[in-house]
Amino acid sequence: MTSLPETPFAGLGTILVIIPTYNEAENVERIVGRVRAAVPEAHVLVADDNSPDGTGKLADGLAAADEQVRVLHRKGKEGLGAAYLAGFRWGLENGYDVLVEMDADGSHQPEELPRLLTALRSADLVLGSRWVPGGAVVNWPKSRLLLSKGGSTYSRLMLNVPIRDVTGGYRAFRKETLLGLGMDQVASQGYCFQVDLAWRAVKAGFKVAEVPITFVEREHGASKMNRGIVAEALWRVTAWGVSDRVARLTGKR
Ligand code: GDD
Ligand code: MN
Repeated sequence: MTSLPETPFAGLGTILVIIPTYNEAENVERIVGRVRAAVPEAHVLVADDNSPDGTGKLADGLAAADEQVRVLHRKGKEGLGAAYLAGFRWGLENGYDVLVEMDADGSHQPEELPRLLTALRSADLVLGSRWVPGGAVVNWPKSRLLLSKGGSTYSRLMLNVPIRDVTGGYRAFRKETLLGLGMDQVASQGYCFQVDLAWRAVKAGFKVAEVPITFVEREHGASKMNRGIVAEALWRVTAWGVSDRVARLTGKR
C-alpha cells in the first residue's frame, strides 16, 4: 500500500480508527470529520453492515473525498463483535500499527483520542473508562447506568480482571496485542465482545491501562442494544467464569 504518514505519537506508528455502523446516517459524517480533525494522521475505516438507512453510501462519499477514509461493506447485520473482528483483520492486513475502536454516535469523543494514544505509548491496550476517577457518563438513564455498572462489576468478579470498565467500547490496541490475544477463537458477536477481548488481553499478560473518558449519550439515531445482546453477555461471561474456575481447581491453568 502507499506509505502512511508518521504520527506525532512517537513510536506508535500508523493509526487506524475503526467505526462500526448500523443505521448511523445521521452520525457517520460528523464522527468521521471529528476524528480527522482531532487526529489528522489517523486513518478511518467505517465497517458498515449494509445499513438500510444508507449509512454505507454516505461513508463511500466520505472515502471518495478523503484518501484517509475507507469503507468495509459487510453483507448484513452480524453484530458489533463480528464487525470489529473484520475491521481488525482489514487493518492488520493493511499494515496498521495501532487499531482503535470507536462508536459512530459521538458517545466516544474523538477529541479524547490523543489521551488514549498517549497512554498507549506505555501500554499494550488502552481502555477509555467511565468508571475510574475522572470518567463520566452524560445523559444516560438510570436503567442504562445500572446495566453498565452491573455488567462491569459482574464481569470483573466472575473473570477476576482488574478493570473497572470492562464493557466499554472506546479502546486503542497495539497490533501485537491483537495478534497475541487469539482473535481467531473469539465467538462473541454482540457487545460482550468487549469483555472477551479485555479478558483475553489480561490473560495473555498484556499491559492494560484505563484512561478516564466522558461518554456522551447519542443525540441522533437509536442504540442497538437489546435483550439478546444482554443475554449473550450474561451467559458467555458466566460460562467463561465457571470454566476458568474449574480449570484452576483442576490445575489446568
Ligand atoms: N457494523 C455494525 N454491526 N455496527 C454495529 C452493530 C452491528 O451489528 N451493532 C451496533 N453497531 C454500532 C453502532 O452503529 C454504533 O456505532 C456502535 O456500534 C455502538 O452501538 P450503540 O447501539 O450506540 O451502543 P450503545 O451506546 O448502546 O453501547 C455502548 O456501550 C456499551 C456498553 O458500555 C457501546 O460503546 C458498546 O460497545 C458498549 O459495550
Ligand atoms: Mn451508543
